[in-house]
Amino acid sequence: MHLPNSVTIVEVGPRDGLQNEANFVPTEHKIELINRLSETGLRRIEITSFVHPKAIPQLQDSEEIVKRIERKPGMIYSTLVPNEKGLERALAARVEEIALFVSASETHNQKNVKMSVSDSLRGFRDIAEKALTHGIRMRGYIVTAFGCPYEGRVPQEKVEFIVEEYKKLGVHEIALGDTTGMANPVQVSRMVSRISPRLGRTSLALHFHDTRGAALANILAALQEGVTVFDGSIGGLGGCPYAPGASGNVATEDLVNMFEEMGIKTGIDLQRLIDCAIYAMEIINRDLPSHLLHAGKICGKGA
Ligand code: COA
Ligand code: ZN
Repeated sequence: MHLPNSVTIVEVGPRDGLQNEANFVPTEHKIELINRLSETGLRRIEITSFVHPKAIPQLQDSEEIVKRIERKPGMIYSTLVPNEKGLERALAARVEEIALFVSASETHNQKNVKMSVSDSLRGFRDIAEKALTHGIRMRGYIVTAFGCPYEGRVPQEKVEFIVEEYKKLGVHEIALGDTTGMANPVQVSRMVSRISPRLGRTSLALHFHDTRGAALANILAALQEGVTVFDGSIGGLGGCPYAPGASGNVATEDLVNMFEEMGIKTGIDLQRLIDCAIYAMEIINRDLPSHLLHAGKICGKGA
C-alpha cells in the first residue's frame, strides 16, 4: 500500500460543526475552544463564517471571534465567505485565509446561498481579485461534490468544471465536500484520480461527513490516491443546515488516531485533542459521535 509519511489536518469544527447547533454557544466558549485547538499541534482552523447572520444565527458573532481569539504564530485561521459583503467583513477583521464555497448541484446552491452556481462563480471573480491584492489565501470548497440530498448523484463533469473555475481565480487549495456523507471509496478513488491531474500547483483537500459511516474508508481511498489534506471536526460536531439529514464531519480525533496508528504523522497531540472534544461536548451540552471519545485511546503501543 502506498502511503504518505505525513498529512495535514484542517479543523473545521468551530465553523462547520457549530453552525448546525440550535442553541447559541456563548462567544467566550467558542473562543476558548479555538484557543485550546490551537494548542494541539493543529496548524489550520476554520473558525467562523462571514455569512448572513439570519442564515446561520449561531455564527452571528464572527467579528468578535476573529478579534478575540489568541492568534498563535504559525497558525492559519480561516473564515467562510459567500459573497462580496462577506469579503468586506473578512477584510475588516484581518483574516489570513478565506474559504469560498459553491455547490456542485444547482438545487443545493440555491437553497444554501440563494444563487445559481454560475452566479456564485461570477461573484467570486471580484472577491478573488480583492483577496489576492490583500495577500489573503483562498480555499475553494466544492460542496455536495459526491452527491446532493436534493438531486442525488452529481455528474463528475460539474465538479471538474468548478475545479477549472477555481484555478482561474487563484485559490491555493480546492476542497471537495461530501456534505451529506454520500460518497463511497470507489467513487472517491475515481474522483481524485480524475481531478488530481488537473490541479497543477493547486492542492486538493477532502472534506467528509460521516453520515453513513463511510468517512474513514473514503479517507483511506483518497490517501491511496495521494491526497494529504483532510478536514475533521472536533468530536464529530456538525452537519449542514441546508442539507437535510446531514451529520457531522469525521471526528478529528478519530482521523488523527487512525493516521498515527498507521505510522502517518499528523503533528497533533491526541490527548490534547481528546480534551478539546470533551470541552466541545460540555459547551454544547450533548454527546458527540466521536469513536475515540467513547472507546478511549489505543494504549501502550508495543506494550
Ligand atoms: N454578511 C452579512 N450580511 C449580508 C451578507 C453577508 N455575507 N451578504 C448579504 N448581506 C445582507 C445585505 O447587505 C442585505 O442587507 P440589507 O437588506 O440590510 O441591505 C441583505 O443581506 C440581503 O442581501 P442579499 O445579497 O440579497 O442576500 P441574500 O438574502 O440573497 O442571502 C447569502 C445570500 C449568501 C448572504 C445567504 O444566503 C447566506 O449567508 N448563506 C450562507 C449559508 C451557509 O453558510 N451555509 C452553510 C455553509 S455550507
Ligand atoms: Zn461540511
